[in-house]
Amino acid sequence: MLESMTKRTFVDSPMERALVLEIVRVTEQAALQASAFVGKGDKIALDAAGTQAMRTTLGETHIRGTVVIGEGEMDEAPMLYIGEQVGLQLPESFAVDIAVDPVEGTTVAARGLPNSVAVIALSEKNGLLGAPDMYMEKLVVAPPAVGRVNLEWHLEANLSAIAQSLERSIADLTIVVLDRPRHEDLINRIRTAGARVKLIGDGDVIAALAVAMRGTGVHALMGSGGAPEGVLTAAAMKCLGGEIQGKFLPANQAELERCIKMGVDPNKIYNTQELAPGKEIVFAATGITDGELLQGVRHFSGGARTHTIAMGYATRVVRFMDTVHLEGEGARVNIRV
Ligand code: FBP
Repeated sequence: MLESMTKRTFVDSPMERALVLEIVRVTEQAALQASAFVGKGDKIALDAAGTQAMRTTLGETHIRGTVVIGEGEMDEAPMLYIGEQVGLQLPESFAVDIAVDPVEGTTVAARGLPNSVAVIALSEKNGLLGAPDMYMEKLVVAPPAVGRVNLEWHLEANLSAIAQSLERSIADLTIVVLDRPRHEDLINRIRTAGARVKLIGDGDVIAALAVAMRGTGVHALMGSGGAPEGVLTAAAMKCLGGEIQGKFLPANQAELERCIKMGVDPNKIYNTQELAPGKEIVFAATGITDGELLQGVRHFSGGARTHTIAMGYATRVVRFMDTVHLEGEGARVNIRV
């Protein structure tokens, strides 16, 4: 048993081995800096603090990185814009594509509410789809339901397939949905079919991770959210063995043209592999505010503590990391276990 587990662990990916810890530092720093603004009601300042910290820390990382999912286009985002080159850019650095969301759940974090994280995914070149910033219809399921659902089917058929895959009844399913007026019909239909709805204020990436893990009490995620978040979710699903299916939802002619320009088909349902085709993927998320999977940043006299999930797809590791960050030299060390 141990032998087979050991063998499985050693799938070699020099990129993943080298970068997973470096990337944890990136999300930790974004979360730490953003956390200074949690509950202060200023989501712009909070987002700017997280973005600045993520960019600075990425600049110290051993990569030749290109942002493919970022804070927007060059002319609208001063930092971490799509196409921006980040990292140390040394000849020997790993060439990677990067998807970032320095503060996923800006509004909830500014209001001091749960489920905000700093998140990043890296892959070899062309391993993450460069998705336009628009809505995406999403269906996220856990490993047992992979290949057994279809975004094109009726809701009831998918609920039934999910229930069967998890060997439970529809009445024992809880479906995560973003709490938005546009989801009123979806919510009613889920409830009418007999399942429960868990409404979240923000943050469908970390909610999707919860869906892909056992014991979290949630069994699928449905409804529309950001397409860039869909790519981040796909990177996480590759590592966790879950599935996302997503359909781009251009809301107007400009968004339709954007799809065409970026080479995405608004009539197609994209699966996990198409959204994150990379053979090597590193994903990390650090809690800014508390959630089911991750605790938020906790400050104490002399430092702060962060909680991170970091995963490698090829190396098949899922790490939960509890890190204490001590303040400058001479600060009193006083760590509680
Ligand atoms: P931010 O990263 O902009 O804070 O997005 C949070 C989020 O809730 C995502 O998780 C979700 O995909 C998207 O917003 C939904 O968009 P909207 O708030 O417009 O419904």
